[in-house]
Amino acid sequence: MSDRPKIELHLHLEGAAPPALIRDIAKRKRMDIGGIFDAQGNYSFIDFWHFLKVYEAATSVLLTPDDYHRLTLAVLEQSAESGVIYGETFLSPDFCGGRDVGAWREYLHAIREAADQAERQMGITLRGIITCIRHFGPDKARETARCAAETAGDWIVGFGIAGDELSGKPKDFAYAFDMAREAGLRLTAHAGEWGGPQSIRDCLTDLRVERIGHGVRAIEDLALVDQLAEDGVVLEVCPGSNVALGVYPNWRAHPIGQLYDRGVKVTISTDDPPFFHTTMKNEYARLHEAFDWDDGVFEKLTRTALDAAFCDADTRKSLLKRLEPGHA
Ligand code: ADE
Ligand code: ZN
Repeated sequence: MSDRPKIELHLHLEGAAPPALIRDIAKRKRMDIGGIFDAQGNYSFIDFWHFLKVYEAATSVLLTPDDYHRLTLAVLEQSAESGVIYGETFLSPDFCGGRDVGAWREYLHAIREAADQAERQMGITLRGIITCIRHFGPDKARETARCAAETAGDWIVGFGIAGDELSGKPKDFAYAFDMAREAGLRLTAHAGEWGGPQSIRDCLTDLRVERIGHGVRAIEDLALVDQLAEDGVVLEVCPGSNVALGVYPNWRAHPIGQLYDRGVKVTISTDDPPFFHTTMKNEYARLHEAFDWDDGVFEKLTRTALDAAFCDADTRKSLLKRLEPGHA
């Protein structure tokens, strides 16, 4: 099952940066990013809030559209290696040109060029979801939403929010989400990772999102679980991320099995794979071990992810063909 074609809906582009790439770019620019690596050269952090700092320190070396071109190619190479045929990646104009629309367009151009190259060479299709960052606050989120609205289209297909879920309230970001919705973007929000069930309810009510990033702590309120199942809300679940960050102590304790059994539309993603020592292949293998999921379950989850993808109908149709058994 680790060799199946995969769809990944929740991947942070900078969070997928191989540590060696970040070190190489830092070295060329003679930048000192301090002790963000362990003795083996992997990213090193002690908890989620420290992770956010290490993430931002690593990202601080990515200063030009060219850096993002390199990053995008490196990330897609890893994803393709895991069998991903379609991915959606979170992109932050905060890191790409400081939320200036003109600068953001240049970064986006470079990212798309790399994505086109990867599609030709590796057969992987990518689309972008612009994300504001919760702990940067609502004013910056509005500027980010402006970048999103200006570049919305067939490639930038969604808008979301990441960062520290315990900072501020979803309704503080309603204006940014309204702008994105009016520009035709589809919506998702990180919730139910560090916040409990109410955090998920607030995103559904105040931001009117159709997908939730993580959402796993819904399991603490079974009425919410029933509501998610009934309304068909899709969860972008990242089990390896949750285990690595200590939301759950191990794979068997992760609630994805219960959520699936209760009819919630769950999908599988890696979040920030090198930070959490994972890949899509690894997620599939661990889920098979922990929950005894077979090919039938993974096929269903892949179809759920394809149906929930924010791409256009033609793209979905050609991806569906690639999921058919026997497709080369
Ligand atoms: N940004 C990158 N990874 C994240 C995560 N797991 N939660 C919130 N924001 C993030
Ligand atoms: Zn995430």
